[in-house]
Amino acid sequence: MSSSRVPSAGRRQRRPDVLLSPLRYPGGKRRLAPYVAEALRLNGLRPRLYVEPFAGGASVAIQLLHENLVEQVVLGEKDPMVAGFWKAVFTDHEQLIARLQKLKPTLENWEYYRSMRPRTVLGWAVKCLFLNRTSFSGILSPTAGPIGGRSQASEHRIDCRFPVERLANRIRQIAAFADRVLLVHEGDWRDLIEHVQKLGYERDQVFYYLDPPFYEKADRLYRYYFHERDHQELHDTLGKLGGNYILSYDAAEPIVRRYSAHANGTRHVELLYSATRRGELIKARELIVSNLPRLPEHTRLWRSKREAVSHALRAPDESVAAMEAVALDGREALFLPAALADAQVSPASLDVR
Ligand SMILES: C[S@@+](CC[C@H](N)C(=O)[O-])C[C@H]1O[C@@H](n2cnc3c(N)ncnc32)[C@H](O)[C@@H]1O
Repeated sequence: MSSSRVPSAGRRQRRPDVLLSPLRYPGGKRRLAPYVAEALRLNGLRPRLYVEPFAGGASVAIQLLHENLVEQVVLGEKDPMVAGFWKAVFTDHEQLIARLQKLKPTLENWEYYRSMRPRTVLGWAVKCLFLNRTSFSGILSPTAGPIGGRSQASEHRIDCRFPVERLANRIRQIAAFADRVLLVHEGDWRDLIEHVQKLGYERDQVFYYLDPPFYEKADRLYRYYFHERDHQELHDTLGKLGGNYILSYDAAEPIVRRYSAHANGTRHVELLYSATRRGELIKARELIVSNLPRLPEHTRLWRSKREAVSHALRAPDESVAAMEAVALDGREALFLPAALADAQVSPASLDVR
């Protein structure tokens, strides 16, 4: 058996639009989805099984399903609240939407959902969706308060990220992929990988996208995070995965050092850069590790609008027209070289609120 292959992306191919996760996830990889999609195209892969053991908001999985770049998907997540959310989306989305439509984003409800312990998958899903959309930066860990604070004195109040019908639509669109979601595994990444390895797929048929908890400050972002030995174990496991993979990490110095040793058959260790809002100070944002033969060459995935424009002016042969801008929010734009932008979206189709 061999994996099904798809033609590489040509510059004239129609650009896919973006299907966003209903979750605003800290460390969410919405912006990395085109990079992973491009990596699959570059290597002529359409994996029969896509495995994401650290699902969180599952932005990459959703986009790859949406672009039909993977056949079936397995999601894993240790947080029962988040795992419950994805289980409900793929098994009971109508009930989830019905509950969403009755939810009132108030401070009283925020206090209620923070302390209640659900007894059903649907209960976890509702708790997850409510707290994710009403807590600061979508953070589910107890460190985060409600948007607007307990005084609600801020310009942004608790209901400002709670567009019920828009969220319901996203859930409906994603639920339509239910028959391609083989499993939502609630639990540890090690158990999920062991499970997948027993399914008997050949090496080229499986693709893992691994996005573990940050090395730094993860305890402030997630209810479940890694200790030093988990980071090391994930590193040691890569060589035994039995499939192609892309791993993304925060570019913390100990992690960069650990992976730069190129152990475990790793072919690429690259840094993706971001610019500050003023466009001057560039800092490494994301470490990418992969055993794929080819990765997109464009490592500067994140640019501010200002930086991209000044870059284009300094290099007249690389005209602004050759760059594609994708508005991400009021302040920032994502600029991609045209080849990568083929896998991108039109600004109008983006909905990040
Ligand atoms: C960086 S986030 C993933 C974000 C995701 N890629 C997205 O786009 O939203 C890491 C996730 O790993 C989960 N996690 C933490 N420890 C885990 C473990 N031992 N096994 C599986 N998942 C775990 C956290 O709950 C968190 O949701």
